[in-house]
Amino acid sequence: MEFTPKIIYFLCAWCGSGGSETAAAYRLKYPENVRPFRVMCTGALDPVYILRCLIEGADGVVVSGCHPGDCHYNFGNFRGRRRIAIIKRILDSLGLDGERLWLRWVAHGEGKKMVDTAKEFNNYIIQKGVNPLSNRWDT
Ligand code: FES
Repeated sequence: MEFTPKIIYFLCAWCGSGGSETAAAYRLKYPENVRPFRVMCTGALDPVYILRCLIEGADGVVVSGCHPGDCHYNFGNFRGRRRIAIIKRILDSLGLDGERLWLRWVAHGEGKKMVDTAKEFNNYIIQKGVNPLSNRWDT
């Protein structure tokens, strides 16, 4: 049975959000159930936010930030990548499926990549089904 997943898309304030703005400039659309949130840097994204998203109703979380070497806070994206790898392992160890969390690099000019990531992740989560941990949101 197909369902409409709740997906949170964290974008860093520089390249990730820039990719979103480029997508908007070209009128590229991504599914409405993908909800973007801006954070200053992937390295500043508190793991608690990701875990709470999954516990409180999200079916998946995707994070996009600057490509390696392009982070506006030097090594923030490397810190973010390490944290996300750890969170995925924690989710797996709890039987909660670390693949409900994706990290994808998106540059300012990569609006299409941002949109394609949102669509691909949305389709992936539809195939996976409802997050068994979540309390469903009512919209
Ligand atoms: Fe984009 Fe750090 S500012 S990942």
